[in-house]
Amino acid sequence: MIKISNQMNNYLVKDVFTPTKPARITFIDRELINDRLVNALQMPGKQIIVYGHSGSAKTTLLLNKLNQLYEAHITSHCMKGMTFNQIILNAFDQLATYYISERTIASQTAVSTDLAATYLAISSKLKSSETTEHTSKEQRILPPQLTPQFLGRLLGAANCCWIIEDFHKVDNSEKPQLAQLMKVFMDMSDEYDALKIVALGAVDTARQVIEYDPEMRNRVAEIHVDLMSEKEIENIVSKGEEALNISFGEDLKSLIARYSNGLASMCHHICFYMCQAAEINETSDKKLELNKTHFETALNHYVADASDSIRSAFDKALKERRKTKHNHVSLALEALCSFGERGSARTSLLTKIRKKVSNYPENSLKGTLQKLTTDEYGAITRFDQTSGLYSFSDPIYRAFALAHFHKNGHSSGNKNQSNIYDKAAFSEFLEKFAREFARRIQE
Ligand SMILES: Nc1ncnc2c1ncn2[C@@H]1O[C@H](COP(=O)(O)OP(=O)(O)OP(=O)(O)O)[C@@H](O)[C@H]1O
Ligand SMILES: [Mg+2]
Repeated sequence: MIKISNQMNNYLVKDVFTPTKPARITFIDRELINDRLVNALQMPGKQIIVYGHSGSAKTTLLLNKLNQLYEAHITSHCMKGMTFNQIILNAFDQLATYYISERTIASQTAVSTDLAATYLAISSKLKSSETTEHTSKEQRILPPQLTPQFLGRLLGAANCCWIIEDFHKVDNSEKPQLAQLMKVFMDMSDEYDALKIVALGAVDTARQVIEYDPEMRNRVAEIHVDLMSEKEIENIVSKGEEALNISFGEDLKSLIARYSNGLASMCHHICFYMCQAAEINETSDKKLELNKTHFETALNHYVADASDSIRSAFDKALKERRKTKHNHVSLALEALCSFGERGSARTSLLTKIRKKVSNYPENSLKGTLQKLTTDEYGAITRFDQTSGLYSFSDPIYRAFALAHFHKNGHSSGNKNQSNIYDKAAFSEFLEKFAREFARRIQE
């Protein structure tokens, strides 16, 4: 996919700025996390939990490190309602590459020949039960031979690391078994050095695993991936400039970093659209400069693209779930709007709300703020453990909330606010948002 020419590497913009896939060409090491992750990957028996805010760059970091350190890996993506058995079967299916394909049969040892035979036996048993009992893939029953130990042997003999993505989506009832599985793998590390699970997930993932088995505390590396600093984001842009032989200029670069708000994906989006606006598709022969007009066009694109997800996030957050005395979500969001982009501590938010509702209960705010960081509520806000601040998880959400509460006359105590999604109001907001960006560039 990546084009190479004689004089210098020639890259396509879509391979350099990758808003929706793991970065390779612009990959920057995260100094604070890098060593911990590498050490944990190299330590036999150590199981790993990588957690952090959505978009904080977990998958990219892990994949880049695995490519450097591991022979192979498989990835299972968890979904809501997925059972422990389905996750095991998913890993089993993916291991077919190592136990059925011709490539691996050629390099088989006696141990793996034995494993391959059992693999085939289990595999055909699964297939025959699918056809005779008309069960779908989702309903397959785990054959008795497919124990966690056997799965461990399959992975271990193939020197294969198992990534479990979105661990937090698995039902709570299934989590203890996954925690137990990690324990089984730890105990097998004597035999298989490389046997390892890396669970990736939202902020609570680490706590959830340890909670089921406190004994695991010392044997699991819990790695928190923080949002990126502005410097780190600028480094991504610089790598892109070098690969494509273009220049954003120092001012635009820091503006991109500021508006990315710690999210590398936003930075990739803006840079990608800026290149599009400047009609750059690949590495340029002669150095090209990008300017404010390209930036403005890129932001318009970004906002237009994001409009559906903004709506959906706000829909989820503001949906009335049950009758309550106060509109808790509106109160919390409106209060958060009155602070800057960095956000606010809970106590300041409470003070703000109490100016409007004098006896507003502290616990209600506590609960609401927690909910607003979850997918069920559109993950509109986030909480930064280091600073103790709550903020909007995307600068666009803040702009939208500002426009919304302004439009509604700052009356979040009033619960009849379902009119905010009318089309005209929304496009007006989008235009205003883009104009606001443009104005800030001129400053
Ligand atoms: N170290 C990095 N260097 C350059 N770009 C990066 C880096 N890490 C992530 N990105 C970019 O940031 C975006 C989000 O990264 P990624 O998908 O890894 O985050 P995530 O934390 O796994 O997100 P999610 O929680 O949604 O799974 C992608 O566009 C990716 O290309
Ligand atoms: Mg990810």
